Amino acid sequence: MAIVCKSAAEIEKMRKSGRLVREVLDALKAAVKPGVSTMDLERIAGKMIQDAGAKPAFKGYHDYPCVLCTSINQEIVHGIPSEKRKLKEGDIVSIDCGVILDGYYGDAAITVAVGAEISPDLVRLLEVTEASLYRGIEQARVGNSVGDVGAAVQEYVEANGFSVVREFVGHGIGTRLHEEPQVPNFGSRGQGPKLREGMVLAIEPMVNTGGPGVRVLDDKWTAVTEDGGFSAHFEHSVAVTKDGPVILTQ
Ligand code: MF3
Ligand code: CO
Repeated sequence: MAIVCKSAAEIEKMRKSGRLVREVLDALKAAVKPGVSTMDLERIAGKMIQDAGAKPAFKGYHDYPCVLCTSINQEIVHGIPSEKRKLKEGDIVSIDCGVILDGYYGDAAITVAVGAEISPDLVRLLEVTEASLYRGIEQARVGNSVGDVGAAVQEYVEANGFSVVREFVGHGIGTRLHEEPQVPNFGSRGQGPKLREGMVLAIEPMVNTGGPGVRVLDDKWTAVTEDGGFSAHFEHSVAVTKDGPVILTQ
């Protein structure tokens, strides 16, 4: 499958999907506090997506069981919401949400501190991970390459003493959740597919305090750090336009 470029009208539809994802993530961020379970977040998201006339993008995707991925502390991505996982003061939780609205996908993620007492190191992890996403987005320009995006993320993360996960990558997005090209959070400038007008990329750095290694738990989904370090994840869906990068999940 080749890389699909979207028309202005398609990007307009993807803006609507993206806006819904952002509304859900904003509501979940406001709901995060000690004692709330990740299944509580799942219910809020499920209802908002249904009320908007949309469908969740992850549920049923390769048999994934839920609307959200909720990944706490040393969990990197693909944590499965559960009644038993109650958020605690000092935790960090990554919340990843995808929707399908009018045939088009939106996908974004945030990582949120639980309570007011998170450690300074974790505050810095969240700041560096989010800033690395914006470094990558800045490179999503006509004439640049996919490698420019990854290199910008990787350089910023490593300059700040953290590591980027290699096993999971960002992706094209449109009428499917995962389209070409793959968008790694590492790479070399000038390498990989050239970016053209109308491409839409989900850029999603996953950043670890320790090494980059990943292990998948027995539930076959939850990816955790191999060395027990903490991990954060931020994601936006971004259109490459002639006027530069446009964040659809803003
Ligand atoms: N944002 C993630 C991704 O784009 C979430 C996918 S979870 C899955 O890969 F359950 F849908 F696989
Ligand atoms: Co994604």
